[in-house]
Amino acid sequence: MAIEHGREASEAQIAVHWREEEYVRPPARFVGQANLADPTVLERFSEKNFPECFREYADMLHWDRYWHTTLDTSRPPFWKWFAGGKLNACYNCVDRHLAKHRNKAALIFVPEPEDEPIYAVTYQELFTRVNEVAAILRDFCGLSAGDRVTIHMPMIPELPITMLACARLGIIHSVVFGGFSGEAAGRRAADSGSRVMIYADGYYRNGKPIDHKASADIALDVAEKEGTKVERVLVWRRHHGQYLSSTAMVAGRDYFIDELVRQFARAKVDPLPMDAEAPLFLMYTSGTTGKPKGCQHRTGGYMAYVTGTSRYYQDIHPEDVYWCMADIGWITGHSYIVYGPLSLGATSVLYEGVPTCPDAGRPWRIAERLDVNIFHTSPTAIRMLRKAGPNEPKKYNYQFKHMTTVGEPIEPEAWRWYHEVVGKSEAVIVDTWWQTENGGFLCTTIPALHPMKPGSAGPGALGIYPIIYDEMSREIPAGSGKAGNICIRNPWPGIMQTIWGDDDRFVKQYYSKYCRNANSQDWRDWPYFAADGAVLPSDGYFRILGRVDDVINVAGHRLGTKELESACLTVPDVAEAAVVPVVDEIKGRVPAVYVSLKPGVSDGQRVSEQVIGTIEAIIGKIARPKAVYVVPDLPKTRSGKIMRRVLAAISNAMDTGDVTTLANPEIVEEIRLQVQGKEPVALKEGPEDVKQFGAVE
Ligand code: WTA
Repeated sequence: MAIEHGREASEAQIAVHWREEEYVRPPARFVGQANLADPTVLERFSEKNFPECFREYADMLHWDRYWHTTLDTSRPPFWKWFAGGKLNACYNCVDRHLAKHRNKAALIFVPEPEDEPIYAVTYQELFTRVNEVAAILRDFCGLSAGDRVTIHMPMIPELPITMLACARLGIIHSVVFGGFSGEAAGRRAADSGSRVMIYADGYYRNGKPIDHKASADIALDVAEKEGTKVERVLVWRRHHGQYLSSTAMVAGRDYFIDELVRQFARAKVDPLPMDAEAPLFLMYTSGTTGKPKGCQHRTGGYMAYVTGTSRYYQDIHPEDVYWCMADIGWITGHSYIVYGPLSLGATSVLYEGVPTCPDAGRPWRIAERLDVNIFHTSPTAIRMLRKAGPNEPKKYNYQFKHMTTVGEPIEPEAWRWYHEVVGKSEAVIVDTWWQTENGGFLCTTIPALHPMKPGSAGPGALGIYPIIYDEMSREIPAGSGKAGNICIRNPWPGIMQTIWGDDDRFVKQYYSKYCRNANSQDWRDWPYFAADGAVLPSDGYFRILGRVDDVINVAGHRLGTKELESACLTVPDVAEAAVVPVVDEIKGRVPAVYVSLKPGVSDGQRVSEQVIGTIEAIIGKIARPKAVYVVPDLPKTRSGKIMRRVLAAISNAMDTGDVTTLANPEIVEEIRLQVQGKEPVALKEGPEDVKQFGAVE
């Protein structure tokens, strides 16, 4: 039976109210075929073998020149990995597979329109196309190693082709998620100093063609205002010879790649051996304050880390069909659609569209048709698919051996549906905790060696030594039941190099808080601060509670947003839940709850009462919500994250700010009317913690 903690609202217990879940063991069939089933690996990656343990990952790559120093700590926290080594990321993902696997599918593209044929790009074809694009970048655009290029593209094969073409020449790519606005892309292009931007004319999303090239004109204006003149825009066409956009091509500035490619057909560009420390790409991520941070990732360490973790944690074998349903515009897509799987010579599926288009059976039809056996997605997608079609997976004949969840803490309820219904109780699940800054997984179970525990990411990944600190830099020991800030005690090859152009911000954001001695060259003095809350039971499985900013302080008690939401999801009719703080004269802050219901449920009043009763039962009366709103949908970003910031603004009569970049902006006004009524409400300024609430996505 599950053990319950924290029914009483005593101070010590308030921090953590999660129930302990029972372990789920990996099926013997999975263990028998796993890449990593040998328990001696734990010894190989133990602290006494650090940092040399990471040779095991680096040796999975082809090096043009082997390195001399595994970890150089001479200028903390600017670590150098595999110093002295040279390699090319594109060579490792493409050329080196040609001898054995040239006819194997590298990418399988699934267009969103279901009647459009699926097609595969073999490793040989990938090689040819990457070379052509590299020739355009070098000979037509005049780009060379170290230059930056901003790529604002949707999920089509030309996106990884363009990234790999950059990598072939040592050009630093900065991919901006296709769903972001032109303005966001322009700001990022300016920050990185990109002279060239690469676009697609359009794509399909939710059954409709989207005019994407229109964003390019906005992006260029914004970049110019910020002092960067973008000279060339290269445009891929979603359909050859047919233009999906209604914006004009600007002569002398905009070029169709499918036309340029004619001049460069059959061109060959040698992959440039790059320094292990040469930047491979930038990936922008938002922070609580200030402009987005350009996380700068290195070539050698990053490639070693994503290759090693793809083999050991994603359990990718050459014969597997691997589908990560994330977008390449996020770090998950970079590491676990493109660089990790292709470095292993795997077959990586690329889906253009929305998982529920045209219905909630779509992902399972794709899985059946392509015989996908490794599936990778996020809790948001899992909840969305569960809400829209809880019984859909049963209708399709596919079989997953392995599934991943990433992006936010997964509620045990959602985990169980994923395991039993999507995975048919036959697949292992890895719950992988990590961040854009980290390159690859930080906490997760090794699928054949560790049992799973719903809702807990697991122990530190191989060679990663996490620790939980309190605000006074004291370690919070395992089993204390107290939450704190999760940190990583050691450097690892996948960690970012710096924030592009802002070393000070890098040190301040990630290291200043817990650095023991700023003059020390000993890595032990430089723990990495992840800005996530976590708790550690005595079994060593970290449970992530969400960003440290996402706490609601009720009468001095810190309540984790995520644990409140998880409690809501135990009410059977609740599909999704978001909890935000409301200013309260007496208690300071009190939670307000927003829930959406599963299809066919209409009795909102009853569900609201159940939500209140459940929160009181699982967490305590202290957490009793001020209100429960049953809403048709929750405001979400284009990547599917719930925008708690917007709900907090509505609940506190504050300005909701710009909501136009949301996936469903229309829902905001609908919810506002429901909460505030038709009479105009005087907007308030709101206290800082409420203003900042949910600001970190
Ligand atoms: C959250 C995504 C719990 C966390 C790879 C982190 C998670 C932020 C998990 C980074 C997980 C990610 N369990 N929380 N398995 N994975 N998070 O940069 O708060 O988009 O700090 O990277 O997502 O999000 P990012």
